[in-house]
Amino acid sequence: ADYDLAVRGGQVATGFGTVRCDIGVKDGRIVALAERIADAARVIEAGGLLVLPGGVDSHCHIEEPQPGGGANEESFATASAAAFAGGTTSVVCFIPQWKGHGVWDRYVDYRARAAKGMLDHSFHQIISDPTDAVMDDEVPRVVAEGVRSLKVFLTYEPLHLSDAQYLRVLTKARELGCLVTVHCENYDAINWRTAELLKHGMTAPKYHAWARPPVVEREATHRAIALAELVDQPIQVFHVSCAEAAEEIARAQARGVKVWGETCPQYVALTAADMDRPGFEGAKFMCSPAPRSQEEHARIWEMIRRGTLDVISSDHCAFSYEGDKGKRQNGADAVFRDIPNGIPGFAARLPVIFSEGVSKGRITLDDFVRLTSTNPARLMGLAPRKGMIAVGADADLALWDPRKKVTITNALMQHAIDYTPYEGLEVTGWPVATIRRGDVVMRDGKVQAEPGTGRFLPRAPYDLIRPRGVVPDGFDPAPPAGR
Ligand code: URP
Ligand code: ZN
Ligand code: ZN
Ligand code: ZN
Repeated sequence: ADYDLAVRGGQVATGFGTVRCDIGVKDGRIVALAERIADAARVIEAGGLLVLPGGVDSHCHIEEPQPGGGANEESFATASAAAFAGGTTSVVCFIPQWKGHGVWDRYVDYRARAAKGMLDHSFHQIISDPTDAVMDDEVPRVVAEGVRSLKVFLTYEPLHLSDAQYLRVLTKARELGCLVTVHCENYDAINWRTAELLKHGMTAPKYHAWARPPVVEREATHRAIALAELVDQPIQVFHVSCAEAAEEIARAQARGVKVWGETCPQYVALTAADMDRPGFEGAKFMCSPAPRSQEEHARIWEMIRRGTLDVISSDHCAFSYEGDKGKRQNGADAVFRDIPNGIPGFAARLPVIFSEGVSKGRITLDDFVRLTSTNPARLMGLAPRKGMIAVGADADLALWDPRKKVTITNALMQHAIDYTPYEGLEVTGWPVATIRRGDVVMRDGKVQAEPGTGRFLPRAPYDLIRPRGVVPDGFDPAPPAGR
C-alpha cells in the first residue's frame, strides 16, 4: 500500500476554512491531501465528522517532582490518556526549579519521566531562583537541549520573583533566544489581602477569589509587560482571567510590543460562585487566577474574538479532592491559603471550548482550531510539524463529531483525579477518535497507546519570538547573540 493510513471522507479543518478531502499518512506524517486516497493499509471513515489538527496544550502541569521526593498525582501515562480522551496530542509542560537548587538535574529527571508517557512533549523551564550559577551555566545548557521557554511566577510562595529577578530572566532569555511565559498576579497584594481575610475569620474556599481580585492581576500584567518592553524581550502572559488584564495586553500589542495572551476554559466556564458551594466543595474550583463571573466570561470571549487572547490552554494542574496528595492535604477544612491551587482540565479543554465557543456561536470553527492547536504550536515553535493539517506535518488528528451531545462526568475525563470541575456540564461536540503520528490512540473513548511512545520535541530558535530591536533611547546593555 502507498499509505499506512487513510482518513477518508471528513471535513478537514485547516484553521483557514474547511475542505472535504482525504488524508494519506506514511511513517507518522501526513504525506498527501487528496480528493480520494484508495491504497492504504488501514482506512478510517470520517464521513460526517470534522478532522481537526490534534490539540496542542501549551500550558499544563504533569508529574512535577516535589522537593520532598514526591510528584503530582497525575503521571505522564495518566495525563496522556486524559489528553487523548479529549483530542489533544501534544503538550508543553513544566520542569520545576526549587529554591536553592539548579535546573540541569531536574531537566534530566523530567525528560526521563516524560519519556514514560504517550504524549509528544516539550517543556518550559521554571526559574524560581535565578542565581549566577543557574542563569549563566545551567540554563544555557537546558536551552541548548531545545527547551526554548522560561517560565516565571510573579506570585506564589516560594516561587515568586522580585522585579530585579524577573529582569534578569528576561535578559537571559533575550540572550539565549527564548520566550518568557509569566504568571501575573501581585504577590504582596495577595498576601496582604489574605492576612486581612484570615484575621476576620474569612477562611472558606470562596475567599480565595477575594484574596486575588482582578486588580492584582491587572497590575502584575502591566508590570510584566512594561519590564519586558524595557528589555525588549517577547513574553506570553499566562491564564488571563479578566478583561482589565487583557486590556493591558491589547494596549501593548497596539504599540507593537511582542506580548501574547493565553486564557483557559475555566475563565469562560467556571465562576467565583462555584467556590461558594456548600462545605469544602468550593476547593474543587480553586485555581489561580481565580474563576470570575459570567459577565467576565463574556468579556473574555470578546478579547478572544479581538485576537488579544490567541491561545487557550488547560493549565491542567491536578489535585484530587480526597487523599493525602489532594485538595484536603492540609485538612478537610483547611483555610483557603493552605489549599493547593489548580484544577484538572486535559480532556475537558477541547469539548468545553468547542461547545461554549463554536456550538453557541461565540467563535468560528477556524477560531477554535487556531486557539487550541495552531496558535499554541506556532508560539511555541512547534509549527508546522504540530498544530496544522498539512503535507509534511505529523499525522496528529482529532476526529470530531460537532453534533454529539455529552454530559461531562469524571469517568469521561480519564485522568488520575477523582473529580472534574465540569461535572454535569452539557456539551455539544465531542472527539470520537484521536490519532497521534498516524496511530489511533483513542477511539470511541477507549484509549489505546503504549506507555513510552511519547516523543520529546526539542525546539530550535524561531522567528516569531525574536526580539524587535526596540529599546528605550536605543540603549541596549545586553544585545542578543547573533544580532
Ligand atoms: O492554580 C493554578 N493555576 N495552578 C497551576 C500553577 C499555575 O499558576 O499555573
Ligand atoms: Zn518568597
Ligand atoms: Zn500560573
Ligand atoms: Zn499553570
